[in-house]
Amino acid sequence: MQPLLSFEGKKIVVTGAYSGIGAALVELLRQSGAEQITVLDIKEPESAVDEFIETDMGNPLSIDAALAAIAAADRKVDVLFNNAGVAATLPADTVMRVNILGLKRLTNRLLPNMQSGGAIVNTASVAGNRWPEHLPQISALLSIDSWDEGVAWIGDNEALVADGYFFSKECVQVYTMQAAKTATAHALRINSVCPSPVDTPLLPAFRETMTDEIIDWAIEAGAGRVATAEDQARALLFLGSDLAGYVNGVNLLVDGGYNAALQMGQVALPGQ
Ligand SMILES: NC(=O)c1ccc[n+]([C@@H]2O[C@H](COP(=O)([O-])OP(=O)(O)OC[C@H]3O[C@@H](n4cnc5c(N)ncnc54)[C@H](O)[C@@H]3O)[C@@H](O)[C@H]2O)c1
Repeated sequence: MQPLLSFEGKKIVVTGAYSGIGAALVELLRQSGAEQITVLDIKEPESAVDEFIETDMGNPLSIDAALAAIAAADRKVDVLFNNAGVAATLPADTVMRVNILGLKRLTNRLLPNMQSGGAIVNTASVAGNRWPEHLPQISALLSIDSWDEGVAWIGDNEALVADGYFFSKECVQVYTMQAAKTATAHALRINSVCPSPVDTPLLPAFRETMTDEIIDWAIEAGAGRVATAEDQARALLFLGSDLAGYVNGVNLLVDGGYNAALQMGQVALPGQ
Protein backbone atom coordinates (compact mmCIF):
# COMPACT_ATOMS: atom_id res chain seq x y z
CA MET A 1 0.00 0.00 0.00
CA GLN A 2 1.27 3.53 -0.85
CA PRO A 3 1.97 5.71 2.22
CA LEU A 4 -0.43 8.65 2.59
CA LEU A 5 2.34 11.18 2.15
CA SER A 6 4.67 10.33 -0.70
CA PHE A 7 6.86 12.26 -3.12
CA GLU A 8 7.65 9.19 -5.19
CA GLY A 9 8.23 10.09 -8.83
CA LYS A 10 8.22 13.82 -7.99
CA LYS A 11 10.74 16.31 -9.28
CA ILE A 12 11.43 19.04 -6.77
CA VAL A 13 13.18 22.41 -6.77
CA VAL A 14 14.16 23.92 -3.40
CA THR A 15 15.77 27.34 -2.96
CA GLY A 16 17.90 27.94 0.13
CA ALA A 17 18.70 24.39 1.22
CA TYR A 18 22.31 24.73 2.40
CA SER A 19 21.23 25.12 6.04
CA GLY A 20 18.26 25.53 8.36
CA ILE A 21 14.70 24.82 7.22
CA GLY A 22 15.68 24.06 3.62
CA ALA A 23 18.28 21.47 4.66
CA ALA A 24 15.71 19.80 6.96
CA LEU A 25 13.20 19.84 4.11
CA VAL A 26 15.61 18.09 1.72
CA GLU A 27 16.09 15.36 4.32
CA LEU A 28 12.31 14.83 4.64
CA LEU A 29 11.83 14.90 0.86
CA ARG A 30 14.46 12.17 0.57
CA GLN A 31 12.69 10.08 3.20
CA SER A 32 9.42 10.61 1.31
CA GLY A 33 10.83 9.15 -1.90
CA ALA A 34 11.35 12.29 -4.03
CA GLU A 35 12.77 11.26 -7.39
CA GLN A 36 14.84 14.34 -8.18
CA ILE A 37 15.85 17.17 -5.83
CA THR A 38 17.39 20.28 -7.38
CA VAL A 39 18.75 22.93 -5.01
CA LEU A 40 19.23 26.60 -5.89
CA ASP A 41 21.47 28.35 -3.35
CA ILE A 42 24.56 30.52 -3.10
CA LYS A 43 26.19 27.69 -1.10
CA GLU A 44 26.41 24.06 -2.12
CA PRO A 45 24.51 21.79 0.31
CA GLU A 46 26.56 19.19 2.16
CA SER A 47 23.68 16.70 2.04
CA ALA A 48 23.27 14.56 -1.07
CA VAL A 49 21.09 16.31 -3.63
CA ASP A 50 20.62 15.26 -7.25
CA GLU A 51 21.48 18.64 -8.69
CA PHE A 52 22.91 21.86 -7.32
CA ILE A 53 22.61 25.03 -9.38
CA GLU A 54 24.57 27.86 -7.81
CA THR A 55 22.03 30.67 -7.78
CA ASP A 56 21.85 34.09 -6.18
CA MET A 57 18.14 34.68 -5.64
CA GLY A 58 18.84 38.41 -5.45
CA ASN A 59 20.25 38.53 -8.98
CA PRO A 60 17.91 38.27 -12.00
CA LEU A 61 20.63 36.99 -14.34
CA SER A 62 21.52 34.23 -11.92
CA ILE A 63 17.84 33.26 -11.55
CA ASP A 64 17.38 33.24 -15.33
CA ALA A 65 20.47 31.04 -15.72
CA ALA A 66 18.98 28.58 -13.19
CA LEU A 67 15.68 28.60 -15.08
CA ALA A 68 17.55 27.90 -18.33
CA ALA A 69 19.39 24.97 -16.69
CA ILE A 70 16.08 23.53 -15.43
CA ALA A 71 14.50 23.98 -18.88
CA ALA A 72 17.51 22.40 -20.62
CA ALA A 73 17.09 19.28 -18.48
CA ASP A 74 13.69 18.96 -20.19
CA ARG A 75 11.85 17.79 -17.11
CA LYS A 76 8.69 19.20 -15.60
CA VAL A 77 8.98 20.35 -12.01
CA ASP A 78 6.25 18.98 -9.72
CA VAL A 79 6.93 21.04 -6.60
CA LEU A 80 8.80 24.31 -6.08
CA PHE A 81 9.77 25.29 -2.53
CA ASN A 82 10.75 28.98 -2.35
CA ASN A 83 12.60 28.87 0.94
CA ALA A 84 15.71 31.07 0.50
CA GLY A 85 15.64 34.16 2.65
CA VAL A 86 17.92 36.64 4.39
CA ALA A 87 17.60 38.85 7.48
CA ALA A 88 17.92 42.60 7.86
CA THR A 89 21.55 42.35 8.91
CA LEU A 90 21.95 42.81 5.13
CA PRO A 91 20.91 46.05 3.34
CA ALA A 92 17.14 46.50 2.83
CA ASP A 93 17.58 46.43 -0.94
CA THR A 94 19.28 43.00 -0.76
CA VAL A 95 16.62 41.67 1.61
CA MET A 96 13.87 42.75 -0.80
CA ARG A 97 15.65 41.32 -3.84
CA VAL A 98 16.21 37.89 -2.28
CA ASN A 99 13.03 37.56 -0.22
CA ILE A 100 10.46 38.81 -2.74
CA LEU A 101 11.75 40.00 -6.14
CA GLY A 102 13.74 36.81 -6.75
CA LEU A 103 11.01 34.56 -5.36
CA LYS A 104 8.45 36.18 -7.64
CA ARG A 105 10.69 36.05 -10.73
CA LEU A 106 11.53 32.36 -10.29
CA THR A 107 7.92 31.43 -9.58
CA ASN A 108 6.28 33.46 -12.37
CA ARG A 109 8.68 32.03 -14.93
CA LEU A 110 8.63 28.42 -13.74
CA LEU A 111 4.90 28.15 -12.99
CA PRO A 112 3.58 27.90 -16.60
CA ASN A 113 5.96 24.99 -17.28
CA MET A 114 5.32 23.02 -14.10
CA GLN A 115 3.64 19.63 -14.04
CA SER A 116 -0.11 20.01 -13.56
CA GLY A 117 -1.20 18.67 -10.19
CA GLY A 118 1.96 20.14 -8.65
CA ALA A 119 2.48 22.80 -6.00
CA ILE A 120 4.48 25.85 -4.98
CA VAL A 121 5.24 26.46 -1.31
CA ASN A 122 6.81 29.66 -0.02
CA THR A 123 8.54 30.20 3.30
CA ALA A 124 7.01 33.47 4.49
CA SER A 125 6.99 34.50 8.18
CA VAL A 126 4.77 35.74 10.98
CA ALA A 127 6.80 38.93 10.37
CA GLY A 128 4.52 39.40 7.35
CA ASN A 129 1.23 39.18 9.23
CA ARG A 130 0.53 42.90 9.04
CA TRP A 131 0.14 42.92 5.25
CA PRO A 132 -3.49 44.22 5.41
CA GLU A 133 -2.06 47.62 6.49
CA HIS A 134 -0.11 47.91 3.22
CA LEU A 135 -2.12 45.98 0.65
CA PRO A 136 -2.35 48.76 -2.01
CA GLN A 137 1.40 49.45 -1.85
CA ILE A 138 2.29 45.75 -1.87
CA SER A 139 -0.01 45.18 -4.84
CA ALA A 140 1.68 48.07 -6.65
CA LEU A 141 5.11 46.49 -6.19
CA LEU A 142 3.92 42.99 -7.11
CA SER A 143 2.31 44.29 -10.30
CA ILE A 144 5.70 45.50 -11.61
CA ASP A 145 7.12 42.93 -13.99
CA SER A 146 10.49 44.54 -14.73
CA TRP A 147 13.29 43.77 -12.24
CA ASP A 148 14.88 47.21 -12.54
CA GLU A 149 11.55 48.99 -12.06
CA GLY A 150 10.90 46.82 -8.99
CA VAL A 151 14.28 47.81 -7.54
CA ALA A 152 13.54 51.47 -8.33
CA TRP A 153 10.15 51.20 -6.56
CA ILE A 154 11.93 49.85 -3.48
CA GLY A 155 14.33 52.80 -3.58
CA ASP A 156 11.42 55.24 -3.90
CA ASN A 157 9.58 53.72 -0.91
CA GLU A 158 12.35 53.60 1.68
CA ALA A 159 10.20 54.56 4.67
CA LEU A 160 7.63 51.85 3.92
CA VAL A 161 10.21 49.17 3.10
CA ALA A 162 12.21 50.07 6.25
CA ASP A 163 14.77 47.32 6.97
CA GLY A 164 13.16 45.14 4.30
CA TYR A 165 12.45 42.03 6.35
CA PHE A 166 8.90 42.65 7.61
CA PHE A 167 7.81 44.27 4.34
CA SER A 168 9.35 41.53 2.18
CA LYS A 169 7.50 38.86 4.16
CA GLU A 170 4.24 40.86 3.89
CA CYS A 171 4.84 40.78 0.13
CA VAL A 172 5.38 36.99 0.19
CA GLN A 173 2.06 36.47 2.00
CA VAL A 174 0.18 38.72 -0.46
CA TYR A 175 1.94 37.18 -3.47
CA THR A 176 0.90 33.73 -2.25
CA MET A 177 -2.76 34.78 -2.20
CA GLN A 178 -2.64 36.74 -5.46
CA ALA A 179 -0.92 33.92 -7.38
CA ALA A 180 -3.45 31.30 -6.26
CA LYS A 181 -5.81 32.06 -9.17
CA THR A 182 -2.99 31.77 -11.71
CA ALA A 183 -1.93 28.52 -10.07
CA THR A 184 -5.46 27.15 -10.39
CA ALA A 185 -5.47 28.02 -14.11
CA HIS A 186 -2.42 25.75 -14.47
CA ALA A 187 -3.85 23.02 -12.21
CA LEU A 188 -1.31 23.95 -9.52
CA ARG A 189 -1.54 25.24 -5.95
CA ILE A 190 0.47 27.89 -4.10
CA ASN A 191 0.65 28.30 -0.33
CA SER A 192 3.07 29.50 2.30
CA VAL A 193 4.29 28.52 5.72
CA CYS A 194 4.64 31.39 8.21
CA PRO A 195 7.11 30.45 10.95
CA SER A 196 7.68 32.23 14.25
CA PRO A 197 11.32 32.13 15.51
CA VAL A 198 13.12 28.97 14.35
CA ASP A 199 16.41 27.62 15.67
CA THR A 200 18.48 27.98 12.49
CA PRO A 201 21.69 29.87 11.54
CA LEU A 202 19.45 32.87 10.76
CA LEU A 203 18.11 33.25 14.32
CA PRO A 204 21.12 35.23 15.69
CA ALA A 205 20.57 37.74 12.87
CA PHE A 206 16.95 38.19 13.97
CA ARG A 207 18.09 38.59 17.58
CA GLU A 208 20.43 41.34 16.35
CA THR A 209 17.83 43.18 14.26
CA MET A 210 14.68 42.59 16.37
CA THR A 211 16.28 42.32 19.89
CA ASP A 212 16.48 39.31 22.23
CA GLU A 213 13.48 40.69 24.15
CA ILE A 214 11.13 40.46 21.14
CA ILE A 215 12.39 37.07 19.97
CA ASP A 216 12.21 35.51 23.46
CA TRP A 217 8.77 37.03 23.99
CA ALA A 218 7.49 35.58 20.68
CA ILE A 219 8.82 32.15 21.66
CA GLU A 220 7.22 32.32 25.13
CA ALA A 221 3.93 33.68 23.74
CA GLY A 222 3.70 30.65 21.45
CA ALA A 223 4.76 27.12 22.29
CA GLY A 224 7.25 28.12 25.00
CA ARG A 225 10.03 26.51 22.98
CA VAL A 226 11.71 27.72 19.83
CA ALA A 227 10.60 25.91 16.64
CA THR A 228 13.05 23.48 15.07
CA ALA A 229 13.88 23.53 11.38
CA GLU A 230 12.11 20.19 11.15
CA ASP A 231 8.89 21.62 12.67
CA GLN A 232 8.78 24.00 9.71
CA ALA A 233 9.97 21.49 7.11
CA ARG A 234 7.11 19.12 8.05
CA ALA A 235 4.54 21.84 7.35
CA LEU A 236 6.25 22.70 4.04
CA LEU A 237 6.20 19.03 3.14
CA PHE A 238 2.47 18.79 3.86
CA LEU A 239 1.60 21.81 1.70
CA GLY A 240 3.76 20.47 -1.13
CA SER A 241 2.16 17.04 -0.97
CA ASP A 242 -1.02 15.64 -2.45
CA LEU A 243 -2.46 15.55 1.10
CA ALA A 244 -2.97 19.30 0.71
CA GLY A 245 -4.60 18.85 -2.71
CA TYR A 246 -7.47 21.27 -1.98
CA VAL A 247 -5.40 23.86 -0.12
CA ASN A 248 -4.60 26.93 -2.21
CA GLY A 249 -3.74 30.56 -1.44
CA VAL A 250 -3.22 29.90 2.26
CA ASN A 251 -0.58 31.40 4.55
CA LEU A 252 -0.28 28.69 7.18
CA LEU A 253 0.90 29.92 10.57
CA VAL A 254 3.40 27.46 12.02
CA ASP A 255 4.04 29.38 15.20
CA GLY A 256 3.19 27.16 18.17
CA GLY A 257 0.06 29.23 18.84
CA TYR A 258 1.82 32.62 18.99
CA ASN A 259 -0.60 34.39 16.66
CA ALA A 260 -3.71 32.86 18.25
CA ALA A 261 -2.60 34.05 21.70
CA LEU A 262 -1.85 37.52 20.33
CA GLN A 263 -5.16 37.84 18.43
CA MET A 264 -7.17 36.58 21.41
CA GLY A 265 -5.52 39.10 23.73
CA GLN A 266 -3.95 36.39 25.86
CA VAL A 267 -0.50 37.92 25.51
CA ALA A 268 0.59 41.51 24.98
CA LEU A 269 3.57 42.94 23.16
CA PRO A 270 6.43 43.81 25.55
CA GLY A 271 5.89 47.25 27.05
CA GLN A 272 2.10 47.26 26.42
N1 LIG B 1 14.85 31.23 11.44
C1 LIG B 1 13.74 31.91 11.72
O1 LIG B 1 13.52 32.32 12.87
C2 LIG B 1 12.73 32.19 10.63
C3 LIG B 1 11.46 32.69 11.00
C4 LIG B 1 10.53 32.97 10.00
C5 LIG B 1 10.86 32.75 8.68
N2 LIG B 1 12.10 32.28 8.35
C6 LIG B 1 12.40 32.08 6.92
O2 LIG B 1 12.81 30.74 6.70
C7 LIG B 1 13.58 30.69 5.49
C8 LIG B 1 14.78 29.81 5.70
O3 LIG B 1 15.64 30.43 6.65
P1 LIG B 1 16.39 29.63 7.81
O4 LIG B 1 15.87 30.15 9.09
O5 LIG B 1 16.37 28.20 7.55
O6 LIG B 1 17.87 30.27 7.67
P2 LIG B 1 19.19 29.73 6.95
O7 LIG B 1 20.11 30.91 6.90
O8 LIG B 1 19.67 28.49 7.61
O9 LIG B 1 18.69 29.36 5.48
C9 LIG B 1 18.62 30.28 4.43
C10 LIG B 1 19.08 29.59 3.17
O10 LIG B 1 19.01 30.54 2.10
C11 LIG B 1 20.26 30.54 1.43
N3 LIG B 1 20.49 31.86 0.83
C12 LIG B 1 20.84 33.01 1.44
N4 LIG B 1 20.97 33.99 0.55
C13 LIG B 1 20.69 33.46 -0.66
C14 LIG B 1 20.66 33.97 -1.96
N5 LIG B 1 20.98 35.26 -2.22
N6 LIG B 1 20.34 33.15 -2.98
C15 LIG B 1 20.05 31.84 -2.75
N7 LIG B 1 20.05 31.30 -1.52
C16 LIG B 1 20.39 32.10 -0.49
C17 LIG B 1 21.28 30.20 2.49
O11 LIG B 1 22.52 29.75 1.93
C18 LIG B 1 20.54 29.13 3.25
O12 LIG B 1 20.67 27.86 2.65
C19 LIG B 1 13.88 32.14 5.12
O13 LIG B 1 13.03 32.53 4.06
C20 LIG B 1 13.55 32.90 6.39
O14 LIG B 1 13.19 34.23 6.14
C21 LIG B 1 13.03 31.98 9.29
